[in-house]
Amino acid sequence: MISNKAKKEINSWVEKYPEGRQSSAVMEALKIVQSENGNSLTTELIQEVADYLDMPGIAAQEVATFYENYNHSPMAKNVIRVCHNISCMLNGSDELITHLESKTGVKTGEVTQDGNICVKKVECLGACVGAPMLQIDDKYYEHLTLEKVDAIIDGLKEGK
Ligand code: FES
Repeated sequence: MISNKAKKEINSWVEKYPEGRQSSAVMEALKIVQSENGNSLTTELIQEVADYLDMPGIAAQEVATFYENYNHSPMAKNVIRVCHNISCMLNGSDELITHLESKTGVKTGEVTQDGNICVKKVECLGACVGAPMLQIDDKYYEHLTLEKVDAIIDGLKEGK
């Protein structure tokens, strides 16, 4: 069920689009609902978003399954999305990913035992100038080094 708080947030996105174009807010709406539901979307939740935005369920499903920002199984509290596309790869993303796996003790796609962290390899996040980079929630971390990654992970472990 979409909470009143989530509806309010979704409405603020709907208002940005011309009348009758509320479905344009689907990406943000899915993100809002996902964050309220254990960082994961079920088919039912996606349908509820579609109903709320008065759009076909299949169209919302297509968005939710096309983009890597959406999770469809129980997910960690913190999902670290590491870009491994060309600019980031040329600037050391493979080494960062190996380091992250070692630091967290899980392979990409897996969730740490405490449910706190999951590392995902993703395609270009549009911040190539800051390569190598990663994303946690809405925040981008750019020009990464192994030391910066350590600080980020330590912060997540401490709940910062
Ligand atoms: S290649 Fe990594 S952000 Fe574009």
